[in-house]
Amino acid sequence: MKRDYPNLCKPIRIGNITLRNRMCSAPLGATDIDRYGTPGPRTQGFYEARAKGGAAIVTVSELTVHPETDGSQMLKLSLATPGQLGAFTFVADAIKRHGAVPSIELSHSGQYAGTYMVDKKKKGELCQYGPSDGVRPDGLPVKALTHEQIADIVAAYANAAGLAKRAGFQMVMVHAGHGWLINQFLSPWFNHREDEYGGSLENRVRFAREVLAAVRAEVGPGFPIELRMSGSELFDGGYDLDEGCRIAQALEDLVDIIHVSAGSYQFGFSVTHPSMFREHGCNAYLAAEIKKHVSVPVATVGAFSDPAQMEEVVASGTADIVVMGRALLADPEIPNKVMANRGDEIVKCLRCFTCMAERPVTQTRRCAVNPRIGREIEGMDFTPAARRKRVLVVGGGIAGMVAAYVAAERGHDVTLCEAASELGGILRSEQAVPFKRDMYELGLSYTRLCERAGVDIRLNTPVDAAFADEFAADAVVVAVGSEAIPLPVPADEDARVFSIDDLYLGGAEAGDEVAVIGGGLTGCECALYMAQKGKRAHVIEMRDELALEDNIRNRPILLAELKAAGVDEVKGAKAQRVTAEGVFVEMAEGERLVPADTIVCAVGQRSRSAVVDELRDAAPFVRIVGDAVRPANITSAVYEAWHAALDI
Ligand SMILES: Cc1cc2nc3c(=O)[nH]c(=O)nc-3n(C[C@H](O)[C@H](O)[C@H](O)COP(=O)(O)O)c2cc1C
Repeated sequence: MKRDYPNLCKPIRIGNITLRNRMCSAPLGATDIDRYGTPGPRTQGFYEARAKGGAAIVTVSELTVHPETDGSQMLKLSLATPGQLGAFTFVADAIKRHGAVPSIELSHSGQYAGTYMVDKKKKGELCQYGPSDGVRPDGLPVKALTHEQIADIVAAYANAAGLAKRAGFQMVMVHAGHGWLINQFLSPWFNHREDEYGGSLENRVRFAREVLAAVRAEVGPGFPIELRMSGSELFDGGYDLDEGCRIAQALEDLVDIIHVSAGSYQFGFSVTHPSMFREHGCNAYLAAEIKKHVSVPVATVGAFSDPAQMEEVVASGTADIVVMGRALLADPEIPNKVMANRGDEIVKCLRCFTCMAERPVTQTRRCAVNPRIGREIEGMDFTPAARRKRVLVVGGGIAGMVAAYVAAERGHDVTLCEAASELGGILRSEQAVPFKRDMYELGLSYTRLCERAGVDIRLNTPVDAAFADEFAADAVVVAVGSEAIPLPVPADEDARVFSIDDLYLGGAEAGDEVAVIGGGLTGCECALYMAQKGKRAHVIEMRDELALEDNIRNRPILLAELKAAGVDEVKGAKAQRVTAEGVFVEMAEGERLVPADTIVCAVGQRSRSAVVDELRDAAPFVRIVGDAVRPANITSAVYEAWHAALDI
């Protein structure tokens, strides 16, 4: 068969193993891990799904090698407690049986021990160790590791690698990037030692060399060792790409793959995990440069999900292997889809950070577009319907499309009615905004998935009770979504007031100065987009904080983008009236005018309750999902719709 992406699908030999393709699953912390660091069945299911999805390597993360100096084991794996090996063997088995190579990441947080603790107050009870004495940015003291401790940690890496090999892992990844312990030794910013582990580059790589040599001695020749490093620390005082190349050269004789990531958790989270405001594959240049300086295969990582782009990375020699993290959370089947020339069916990651934000809150994972994440053992395959039913889905936004797709995949006879002339609902608006493009494309992907699953799609077809009666469905899913709340304050006739949809979809032209009323997530994104287009942008919010409903990972990034773009934040301000001059707001210090020639109303959404009420008795089975229940986010819309369709 002729593959659409031949380079991406080509095997590659690493040490004594052959990878089946060039698409690998990045280390992605799981959640079902007990207090001793033992992986539970949901963790096993999580990694198994990525293996079944076709990835060449599935890297289990993050095995803490030396709990004595690594503080919290919260949601980190450990092999320190006797009797745990079996659980790791089950995980390695589950990956291997689908043709993927099981790898495990060996890690030590160093001075950032305790970062993962759910109860942050307990961090202070830990003792954080790093290369040098100091104080962390959060005020906690850091102790320099002694020579004895260093030797002990080096031995612990080797011990963990040996145990992992015994459990059936076929390779290991040594984590030397992202600001964790080995990175701290490599970094002139963290490492101020005056002994043989600090100062010159030769000294700063010594700890990494000792670790890698000890691991090699333990696992033997040919057993692949992957070094994960940051190509550059990307902050002032850290090492740069030039030094990153020299670090890679100084370590390459001890490893089989150099996996080039970027930056650090502490000082560059949105670079290490490229946010929606960055280009796809934006860190590949680091791998490309390092590849010029070493002879072992090089992997790249960071916001890859488009097969054409990944193919180009391999074909052009930018890197030999492409590693995906969030993309495989969103759609673990990406490698299988690429191999089967079904690349256009990929459900792409939105880079909304729901995945990373959920774990500190509930110790689980969620993904906006993948409702099965972390719940893989509850079933990955669609259960075929016992009886083919006539299903009517009302509303072709994301919730409606997901429900229609899942119901059709289960074998039901599905009709999807949409009142507008296109599917996509709210996602259609996002096509205008460059950093929201992936959301728009989610709608396109689901349109294709519905078409291919055989859904009868009827556009320009509003549904009321009479329509539903005549249709006589066995099951109705009501996914009619929400509509924008109109401007809640008086506006002069000559004021130019638009909704988000008017602006993004309706062709309304914003003038030079735009005031967005409503500083929730949507309003903030709109103000940012306006500023990026070169407008003077103001965002007006009643509360004292912006984008409060955004998740804890994305929100700081969004707020930083607003600052960088120069958006004027008018907080603690209640809009009173709108005129051609702008918006008059009431603030603690009195009334003020926020000048604007264009006003955008982004005060929120309300469910289309009238349609919902009309359809409550439309069939024996009726389920209301998504914004039609209450305006929320894509995560709940997808989750509810998916499960409604499974219940039919
Ligand atoms: C939910 C989640 C968990 C992660 N856990 C780990 C981890 O345990 N160890 C690690 O080295 N990187 C971890 N990462 C970082 C990823 O391996 C990857 O480097 C990063 O997400 C950038 O790749 P992406 O843009 O393809 O997601 C995690 C990322 C995410 C999103």
